Amino acid sequence: MHHRPAAAVTMRPPSRRALIAIAATVAILAPLGFFWQRSLVPGDLSPMAMGYADFGGGPAATHAHHGTKVGDLTGPAAGTPDVAVDLVARTERFEIPGRGPMDGFTLNHTSPGPRIVAEQGDLVQVTLHNDNVADGVTLHWHGVDVPNAEDGVAGVTQDAVGPGKSHVYRFVAEDAGTYWYHSHQVSHEQVQKGLYGVLVVKPTASDVIAAVHTYDKVRTVNGEYGERRVKAPGPTARVRLINTDNGPMAAWVDGAPYKVVAVDGTDVNAPTEVRGKAVLVTAGGRIDLEVPTTTAVRIGLGGGPTTLVIGDGDAPAGPEPRERVDLLTYGSPKPLGLDPAKADRVFRYDIGRRIGFLDGKPGMWWTINGRQYPDVPMFMVDEGDVVRMRIRNTSGQVHPMHLHGHHVVVLSRDGKPATGSPWWTDSLNVEDKETYEVAFVADNPGIWMDHCHNLPHAAQGLVTHLMYSGVTTDHHLGGAPGNQPE
Ligand code: C2O
Ligand code: CU
Repeated sequence: MHHRPAAAVTMRPPSRRALIAIAATVAILAPLGFFWQRSLVPGDLSPMAMGYADFGGGPAATHAHHGTKVGDLTGPAAGTPDVAVDLVARTERFEIPGRGPMDGFTLNHTSPGPRIVAEQGDLVQVTLHNDNVADGVTLHWHGVDVPNAEDGVAGVTQDAVGPGKSHVYRFVAEDAGTYWYHSHQVSHEQVQKGLYGVLVVKPTASDVIAAVHTYDKVRTVNGEYGERRVKAPGPTARVRLINTDNGPMAAWVDGAPYKVVAVDGTDVNAPTEVRGKAVLVTAGGRIDLEVPTTTAVRIGLGGGPTTLVIGDGDAPAGPEPRERVDLLTYGSPKPLGLDPAKADRVFRYDIGRRIGFLDGKPGMWWTINGRQYPDVPMFMVDEGDVVRMRIRNTSGQVHPMHLHGHHVVVLSRDGKPATGSPWWTDSLNVEDKETYEVAFVADNPGIWMDHCHNLPHAAQGLVTHLMYSGVTTDHHLGGAPGNQPE
């Protein structure tokens, strides 16, 4: 008996149902392929070619900086530095006092790296050597409005400094305040594992530094774990809180009232006494407190085992106060020095999240104005522009937004105008469902990152740039130096 070949059975024309299924598959896969293809980030990408120009309602092209290269926008090339520091970056194991060994990165064999202290107006020169960090390193001066070429962003303002290589940074420390520095090459890994340090301009005799950093889930203050103690510098201390982590941290004082005397390097006008409240330190942000230290006080840092006690003897230890200082209303107003009503450009920076591809990888990715990295807006300005920006977050998570090279002043939050001291900031904590309006003067030509300082978020594409018309860069993301700023 002959059997018909089994194949013949399946060679019947496809059923209507099968056709629908095939059509549906194509309908899903074709655009999927398109979006996948579109999400690929070229291995060598000029930041200038990223996304699309957004002129914020201002004129498109001027010739103000025509022919200016980022590399020309350096600090003073001549002159003997007032502060000269050599920093050597290494991959190595180091000790977290109170906790144990950590495999990470050091500067001059320590993490955090050496404190850099300058007087206002000093010419600061930092020579960075990379001993053996395979990916290369850079240094970014977080919160210091340096000339663009000194900004330390791999692929935008310089190339990553490879093993055996060096790079010299020179800038004038024009603004007093509390700052920090960190690598801006593979920063989501290098910063967390130790490549950072403190920078103070115009230190005072009453300074107490409290730089908070979490290494592999271990929160430290000044690189040490647990209850740490420092001597009282006098009857009052200026506590310089620095949050070098990826998330916001509440800080407070047990045992005394305090004042918030500076935010992100700018003094608060007419600060008032705070009792029983915490203050939020944005990721990347700095808050200076003035604290009476005639008796021992404890600085609560996020509520874990790591705290800083100033002075001798027992210091009270309390839980995190429920209430928080609101910088929108804290202190007294004074002139801003700019007129936001006469803005030359108005931008929006809307942060969302959606399912899609990033460089071919499927996931839930951040969006900026509905677009995904690298197809994001390039905020275009001219020197001298007054700029307003509305930052709106509907992404479901908090984002600490950081614009390089400038300080912005907060105009409103959720439509409620700022009524306190001018709130100048470089690291702004934008919670889910919050909308901030900020303003600034475009007074520092260059190409500047404007990104989330939760560094893993930045690595996941929450990055865009502010670009002055006519300024160009020769540096590329990727390429031979392997530039990868986030
Ligand atoms: Cu603290 Cu883009 O940097
Ligand atoms: Cu973020």
